[in-house]
Amino acid sequence: MKFFVDTAEIDAIAELHDLGMVDGVTTNPSLIMKSGRDILEVTKEICDLVDGPVSAEVVSLEADDMIAEGRKLAKIADNIAVKVPLTWAGLKTCKILSDEGHMVNVTLCFSANQALLAAKSGATFISPFIGRLDDINIDGMELIADIRDIYDNYGFETQILAASIRTVNHISDAAKIGADVITAPPGVIKKLADHPLTDAGLAAFMKDWAKTGQKIL
Ligand code: E4P
Repeated sequence: MKFFVDTAEIDAIAELHDLGMVDGVTTNPSLIMKSGRDILEVTKEICDLVDGPVSAEVVSLEADDMIAEGRKLAKIADNIAVKVPLTWAGLKTCKILSDEGHMVNVTLCFSANQALLAAKSGATFISPFIGRLDDINIDGMELIADIRDIYDNYGFETQILAASIRTVNHISDAAKIGADVITAPPGVIKKLADHPLTDAGLAAFMKDWAKTGQKIL
């Protein structure tokens, strides 16, 4: 499973990148706003840091403008994945940019049928939003499982990028289902290493080690 980091904060990406945990990055207009950075500048910096796909999202609502924005974003670096919303204009943009050889991430996916359309339009990634479905009492993980079944039934190569991840359990559950990629905030990825029994076990080992009076270094 690939790990993408869902942020436009360079320091947070760099910290996880140094640990080998970053296979790609996703951003969106809200994350760019939070970073306080210029979209073109910060996206370029992220692309220079990370080898894998870096999603940068278009903000126009009409296909012609989306396509123009997508082409401009794609010029930032070879590893840009143009992110488009799951609307007919977004799907048209996906088809055209995919045919031109660009990676496209179709975002804001909330149903299996939407995911089917994205695959048919040549998307590199489909981004189903787990957390936002959970927020309205619909099981987001069920959507990941449905898309996995549908894509496997027909051999679609579009990668399932489980998004809107809020908890560590979202990550392990998406992995069990076979999502190709998760994108999660840095804080959630860092929590993956936490376990109270690890902390308790380490404390006990340290206590016993101190009693030996030994040193390794
Ligand atoms: C994915 O690409 C989105 O940027 C992101 O996962 C949305 O997450 P949120 O629902 O927590 O805002």
